[in-house]
Amino acid sequence: MKFEFIRFADLPSTNDEAKKYASEGGALPALIMSERQSSGKGRLGRSFYSNDNTGLYMTLVFKSPEKESVFLRLTSLAAVCAAESIRELFGLKVEVKWVNDIYLYSKKAGGILAESFFVEDERFIALGFGINLYTDFPDELKDIAISLFGSYTDSYTLNTQRNALANRIAEKFFEALEKDDLTPYVEKYRKLSCVIGNEITFFENGVAYDAYAYDIDNLGHLYVRLPDGKER
Ligand code: BTN
Repeated sequence: MKFEFIRFADLPSTNDEAKKYASEGGALPALIMSERQSSGKGRLGRSFYSNDNTGLYMTLVFKSPEKESVFLRLTSLAAVCAAESIRELFGLKVEVKWVNDIYLYSKKAGGILAESFFVEDERFIALGFGINLYTDFPDELKDIAISLFGSYTDSYTLNTQRNALANRIAEKFFEALEKDDLTPYVEKYRKLSCVIGNEITFFENGVAYDAYAYDIDNLGHLYVRLPDGKER
């Protein structure tokens, strides 16, 4: 599927720009990329560190699929496309941490933020990817965040890798959407998961629980076994 590729040097957030672009009737599907973001957004109202032109910050914007089964799997599909693209292009064994974080050596190398929005009566999706390529993190993030390639490189290398990764993710994602059946991607998601088969800690209403994660179902729900044997 063909898509528009629109580049910016500086934006507050590519997701917000994508929403504006679609609302104003921009051609779709589109990939909106920015070298840096002054207010990069993460999930759950958090921010995403992306202000110094060292990563891939991009949003795919497109008309929402009509099938609910496809709509519900968009973020899992996005995580699979990002992880597979990184593995194929750069040979790095990244994994997916439930729900849709990209992990390398047990640290977060990227995240995905999906937002749906309406223009008049039509539903659209802004699917944002933030992948750390050469980011040098502030002290408070150093223990939990990582970049795929370490510290800063020359701008030619950064641009080449960033463009290749952006294109590969978008091509994979839009190709999958065209098929209209995401069942094969659910199995890929399970295989890329670094959560299944491991002891984890999850939080519910601010309380931490230790548990064993044993499966993720076709709609992306995580199944865990608590120490008392109960399953959730
Ligand atoms: C997360 O880890 O919680 C999700 C992070 C998503 C960050 C990307 S960067 C490009 C796009 N624009 C945003 O403002 N956020 C997403």
